[in-house]
Amino acid sequence: TSSLLLREVCNFIFSIVLFLAGHRLISQTAAKIDVDFDYDGPLMKTEVPGPRSRELMKQLNGIQNAEAVHFFCNYEESRGNYLVDVDGNRMLDLYSQISSIPIGYSHPSLIKLLQQPQNLSTFVNRPALGILPPENFAEKLKESLLSVAPKGLQQVITMSCGSCSNENAFKAIFMWYRNKERGNNNVTKEELETCMINQAPGCPDYSILSFMGGFHGRTMGDLGCLATTHSKAIHKLDIPSLDWPIAPFPRLQYPLEEFVKENQQEEARCLEEVEDLIVKYRKKKRIVAGIIIEPIQSEGGDNHASDDFFKKLRDIARKHGCAFLVDEVQTGGGCTGKFWAHEHWGLDDPTDMVSFSKKMMTGGFFHKEEFRPNAPYRIFNTWLGDPAKNLLLAEVINVIKREDLLNNATHAGKALLAGLLDLQTRYPHLISRARGRGTFCSFDTPNDATRNKLIAVARNKGVVLGGCGDRSIRFRPTLIFKDHHAHLFLNIFSDILADFK
Ligand SMILES: Cc1ncc(COP(=O)(O)O)c(C=O)c1O
Repeated sequence: TSSLLLREVCNFIFSIVLFLAGHRLISQTAAKIDVDFDYDGPLMKTEVPGPRSRELMKQLNGIQNAEAVHFFCNYEESRGNYLVDVDGNRMLDLYSQISSIPIGYSHPSLIKLLQQPQNLSTFVNRPALGILPPENFAEKLKESLLSVAPKGLQQVITMSCGSCSNENAFKAIFMWYRNKERGNNNVTKEELETCMINQAPGCPDYSILSFMGGFHGRTMGDLGCLATTHSKAIHKLDIPSLDWPIAPFPRLQYPLEEFVKENQQEEARCLEEVEDLIVKYRKKKRIVAGIIIEPIQSEGGDNHASDDFFKKLRDIARKHGCAFLVDEVQTGGGCTGKFWAHEHWGLDDPTDMVSFSKKMMTGGFFHKEEFRPNAPYRIFNTWLGDPAKNLLLAEVINVIKREDLLNNATHAGKALLAGLLDLQTRYPHLISRARGRGTFCSFDTPNDATRNKLIAVARNKGVVLGGCGDRSIRFRPTLIFKDHHAHLFLNIFSDILADFK
């Protein structure tokens, strides 16, 4: 309490000092009292991308299309919430490698882990986990993934990325569905023959229902992860796809408290459409074996729905015998204030599957016992994840618990959202629909061009932000993003908005 009090007093004094100095102060100042491995603030030396980044971009572009590269990084110098680039610019990183750095850059606990001689072989020898796992594999899974398993899901399969986690979850769903239909494990000769030439009954015409605006990966695979992605045309153009049902995702109106009735109606409309599609696709013999959904549609523009919407959707899945797969690749790992965003819903009946990657360091999916493949090699690839990542994840989870980082995400998220709502009232022509859960916050800008310009200006002032959807800016900081980082950002951004033309 005494250090909290000290912080409040310091914040207050700093506020007065900065106010007198003429800053456009919209929040508390960024007084930083706790001593950790983080830097003190941004430090800019050149514009971004700077000359060295531009030179490296040219080099890389000679080998591959590198037009998506923002700038090149110096990861040795990057620490905590700060990303340092090759031109020596130090930026507060609120995007954290597309939401995939759990506890900041170069965290001392992770470096210590790497320096322990007994861990060296895990980093040096990457095994084919499905056939030749190391002695401590089950133990490490228990220490890492299973220690944070979502309620009701005690089985886990690891994978290398988010897309392949979802694709393999789809496969597990189809196998489960077919076994339900067969009622036994006796596969016919016809099924074995027809599956080899991509025909039914060996390859049944099952589908996965997804939502407009959803993003579940870019791989095409043999099943079509991309067929369930509907966030941006650029991901899908020129790639053959599947006739799988796509339901509308609610488009909520903000502020939520002013549009309660309208939003309830909108959610009811979407749920009705889900049921209609399940029935329609069953009639055309393309049975919906599963439903995939993100707790917050992330790439598609940070679209939220109420907890009630998700509970009702879970009921619909059960009613129609469809598996319910929650894609927590972006929302998982604690940034919403709970380890899994779907924990906010308060489901009575757990989800059937949860896929993960990004902040979890390894990809994979949790599932109920009934989705266990009934034979080896049915859900399989060479690496099946990486034990080195499980080792790191076990330590990340220790740090999350030790430093109470879920509560930190709730707290820092409140400071961030409160500041965004304040900016929204002061700059309504630039900011609208400020929203968020934990630090998983976002707001809309008037259009794509303004959004991109705001991101570019912020970067040159030492803040890395990400875009999503067609006009949103999203916040995806690490779990060690604290209130003082929120205030630091809000002060910088307030100045940017005041001068923005
Ligand atoms: C919700 C969601 N699912 C799946 C993926 C795909 O993950 P990856 O890029 O690791 O294949 C992403 C990536 O952004 C995602 O946000």
